Amino acid sequence: MGTSERGRPPKVRIILLHEKHIARMIEWRNQPEIGEHQPIAQLSRDQFMNFISSQKAPHFWKLADREYILIIEEVTGKQPVGWITLEISSQQHGLSRLGYSIGKEHWGRGYATAAVRTLLVQLFTKTAIVRIEADCSVHNPASMRVLDKCGFRKVGVKKEYLVINGRRVDHYYYELLKKNFK
Ligand SMILES: CC(C)(COP(=O)(O)OP(=O)(O)OC[C@H]1O[C@@H](n2cnc3c(N)ncnc32)[C@H](O)[C@@H]1OP(=O)(O)O)[C@@H](O)C(=O)NCCC(=O)NCCS
Repeated sequence: MGTSERGRPPKVRIILLHEKHIARMIEWRNQPEIGEHQPIAQLSRDQFMNFISSQKAPHFWKLADREYILIIEEVTGKQPVGWITLEISSQQHGLSRLGYSIGKEHWGRGYATAAVRTLLVQLFTKTAIVRIEADCSVHNPASMRVLDKCGFRKVGVKKEYLVINGRRVDHYYYELLKKNFK
């Protein structure tokens, strides 16, 4: 598992959310499996459109202190397979956070790992980000594995951190420092 059909990690690119992705985003966010281990707010097409116009940057890597929705696009077929939420918490201090989801139909092919690694390389080589954090439900082993494979370190537990499907859920929190990224 975790690789493309030919045994190599899949090639992905990370792009800003575009109008053409909205229908797919709404479809994915309605998949019960996507919301099993994370709180998902259902956004309307208009809300996505507002988000898209607000996150336009003169250049993709001139990031501001805000949240971005990024699409994971499989390079060969140019098809979107999931998304990453990237929060630039503080450019001044080089801090950010990320989360990710892959459409259920694309699970188990290495897309999440490839996408997070691609984004990490871009953040650590093209921006001033030096520290990235991520949280993960203690009941979500696939996501823990993605973070492990990308070099994140499990730091501790946030007890009863988020409400997911009506219940408070403990989360592991992870960190990755630029100097430790290989
Ligand atoms: C978590 C998620 C992003 C993983 O996406 P993916 O593209 O299937 O991930 P990858 O293929 O890159 O890697 C998954 C790894 O988890 C492993 N895995 C999957 N299910 C597992 C399970 N139940 N127990 C242990 N490991 C598991 C896979 O074997 C693989 O590891 P490997 O490469 O060593 O074999 C995807 O399942 C998803 O979108 N889930 C819903 C949203 C979500 O939970 N997002 C994370 C919020 S913190």
